[in-house]
Amino acid sequence: MTKAKQDKTEKDYSTYFQTTFKPPSLKEARRRRKKTIQFLNDFSIPDDIEEIGKGKKYLIRTYGCQMNEHDTEVMAGILEEIGYEATENEENADIILLNTCAIRENAENKVFGEIGHLKNLKREKPELILGVCGCMAQEESVVNRILQKHQQVDLIFGTHNIHRLPQLVKEALFSKEIVMEVWSKEGDIVENLPKVRKGNIRGWVNIMYGCDKFCTYCIVPYTRGKERSRHPQEIIDEVRELARQGYKEITLLGQNVNAYGKDLESIKNYGLGDLMDEIRKIDIPRIRFTTSHPRDFDDHLIEVLAKGGNLVEHIHLPVQSGNSDMLKIMGRKYTRERYLELFYKIKAAIPHATFTTDIIVGFPNETDEQFEDTMSLVRECQFDGCYTFIYSPREGTPAARMEDNISMEVKKERLQRLNALVNELAAESNAKCADQVVEVLVEGASKKNPDVLSGHTRTNKVVNFRGPKSLIGNLVNVRVKNVKTWSLDGELIEEKAEV
Ligand code: 5AD
Ligand code: SF4
Repeated sequence: MTKAKQDKTEKDYSTYFQTTFKPPSLKEARRRRKKTIQFLNDFSIPDDIEEIGKGKKYLIRTYGCQMNEHDTEVMAGILEEIGYEATENEENADIILLNTCAIRENAENKVFGEIGHLKNLKREKPELILGVCGCMAQEESVVNRILQKHQQVDLIFGTHNIHRLPQLVKEALFSKEIVMEVWSKEGDIVENLPKVRKGNIRGWVNIMYGCDKFCTYCIVPYTRGKERSRHPQEIIDEVRELARQGYKEITLLGQNVNAYGKDLESIKNYGLGDLMDEIRKIDIPRIRFTTSHPRDFDDHLIEVLAKGGNLVEHIHLPVQSGNSDMLKIMGRKYTRERYLELFYKIKAAIPHATFTTDIIVGFPNETDEQFEDTMSLVRECQFDGCYTFIYSPREGTPAARMEDNISMEVKKERLQRLNALVNELAAESNAKCADQVVEVLVEGASKKNPDVLSGHTRTNKVVNFRGPKSLIGNLVNVRVKNVKTWSLDGELIEEKAEV
């Protein structure tokens, strides 16, 4: 193909970075300045963009954590404000956004697979806008790869640029070039963004953004910016509004919720415990929060959680490893002993609490003995569930500079053994529920059988039982009849729940 011809059919990005936009920079994103966080309340849609999506459809594919799921709700809100309607079918979509996750390499591979798959659709429908956003868009290597190899992508924007979506969509509609806006900054808080929530029973509420922990393996502090807390009143108002709308369960979100409040300048010494103590007074049946970091989990929070009520007794407390030397090089800032101390302190205050955790196997230099320490900690804590991961080097993090010296075979073998233990413990924990009466928030009907309803207990166990669809959205009592490893089957009853 001649150069002139190629220019007509394909975009040439060889000089893109020098001439057009500032590329994302992990190095820049790593900086933590003393600069005050900006609270913005000025999101508005310019007149010329207000109806830009009228008669058109959008589809957002979400990868990764609940934070991303919730960001998708915000992007959906913005797209609907400018006229777009939702579709589940990619062939009908006029704009497709991939809201991506960068936490492990396999998460990124999935997204690149999807970008590749959408190439055909884009060829058939050149007016389709294909956008990549979320955590991967914050990585310079990802952006380079897209620019070089995936010219079907029209739009790239970062986690700090979501509120700019109206302007970015407009540019993508009218520009022949790729539109890219990724700010590698520490982040602001934009309060008045619209949202279209998925479902009307359980809702997510951000309490803070970003992470300053810089665990050595983790990309999140780079892609999500510095820890910044929303004002308590904004959070309380949002939870109240959801309660008024009939939501039954709220999950308070943050990458490191236990650091909540530390950065607030207008209120001193106000932490997650104080916030939970106010939220528990709101008339909504269930409040959860995620994700906790053991280091900042303080006594006041435990004291408040022990008050129960709508604060449910499930704690997700990522440990990552059961060996203190590993924890040290992971940059976790606690030892095995400190973790266990905290675990038992919470257990003593909230005896019915269930615990889940996250674990990484095969971190650089992890020996068999060190892995056995993880196994013994899991056995000791009898977690109800563990999210287990094979270590994946992330470019730009300190761990990525260490030699990834555990073979894949060993990593897989460790993961398998750990998962076998995790399953055994989950089954044991579920077995304890046999014949008990549990309170279930009915979230929906089973896809396979509409007569079977499904929901979660306060302790976050899945329960399936037969009942009329009219129960969806209600709290009901169910007697557990049959226990499986990852769910409970039960019968609907009228009596009062015990657990
Ligand atoms: N490799 C493997 N797992 C990781 N996690 C975070 N970064 C990595 C990585 N580089 C896991 C941690 C964290 C969870 C969300 O993902 O266990 O708690
Ligand atoms: Fe990543 Fe550690 Fe922050 Fe969690 S606390 S988001 S693992 S850096």
